[in-house]
Amino acid sequence: MDTIKAIKERRSIRRYLDKEIKLEIVSEILEAGSYAPSSGNVQNWRFLIVKDKKKREEIADACLGQTWMNQAPIHIVVCGDNKAVSSMYKKKGEKYIIQNCAAAIQNILLAACDKGLGSCWVGVFNEDKLRTLLGIPENISIEAVIPLGYPAYKPIAEDKKHRRRHRIEFLTFFEKYNERELDFSVWPLVKQYKKLDEKVNLGKIRKLFKK
Ligand SMILES: Cc1cc2nc3c(=O)[nH]c(=O)nc-3n(C[C@H](O)[C@H](O)[C@H](O)COP(=O)(O)O)c2cc1C
Repeated sequence: MDTIKAIKERRSIRRYLDKEIKLEIVSEILEAGSYAPSSGNVQNWRFLIVKDKKKREEIADACLGQTWMNQAPIHIVVCGDNKAVSSMYKKKGEKYIIQNCAAAIQNILLAACDKGLGSCWVGVFNEDKLRTLLGIPENISIEAVIPLGYPAYKPIAEDKKHRRRHRIEFLTFFEKYNERELDFSVWPLVKQYKKLDEKVNLGKIRKLFKK
C-alpha cells in the first residue's frame, strides 16, 4: 500500500472478526515497528505478543475494562527498556523514551493497516496490573497495548459521517507562530474552493484564516 494512503486510511479499530492472524504477519508488522527512528539509535522498544485468551481478557480488564479488546486475537504490549536512553540523555531521556516508542507504535499501526489488519493504540491502563500479569520488571516501562485483528467494519465509511481531522490550514503557520498569512493557496481548503468555483475569492478565504 502506498504510504500516504495507509496513513490516511488507518483508523482505530474496536471490533474484530473471529479470525486468527498468522504469526509471520505479526512478525513483519513488529519488524516495521523496529525500523522507527530513535534517539541515538537506542531502539529501546520491546514487544510482548499475547495470544492467550484468558490473558487478553485480563489485559482488557487492566485497560480499565475496555472489553472490546477481547475480540482481537492478539495483543501487542509495547514496553521500553530504557537503561541506554537514561544513561545517554539523563533527564532529557524521559521524553525520548516515550517518543522512540511512540514512533515504533505508529509504524506498527501503519504496517497493520498495510496488511489489512485493524489495530488501536491503547494508552489507558493500570500499569501495576499489567506488570504483574505479564511479568514486566520494574525497570521496564509500559508504553501501550495494541490489539490486532481483522476489522469487522469499514472505518472510512463510518468516518464520512464526521469530519475526523482539523484542517491543516488552521494548524500550520509560516515563519512565526500564529502567522497564517503567507502562501496558503497550496492547501486543500483552497483546492476545494477551486473545484467549486474557478474564480476563487482569495480575500474571502484570507478572512477565514484570520479568525
Ligand atoms: C496516546 C494514545 C492513547 C490512546 N488510548 C486509547 C485507549 O485507551 N482506548 C481507545 O479506545 N483508544 C485510544 N487511543 C486512540 C484514539 O482514541 C484515536 O487515535 C483517536 O480518537 C483518533 O482516531 P483514529 O485513530 O481512528 O484516527 C489512544 C491514542 C493515543 C495516541
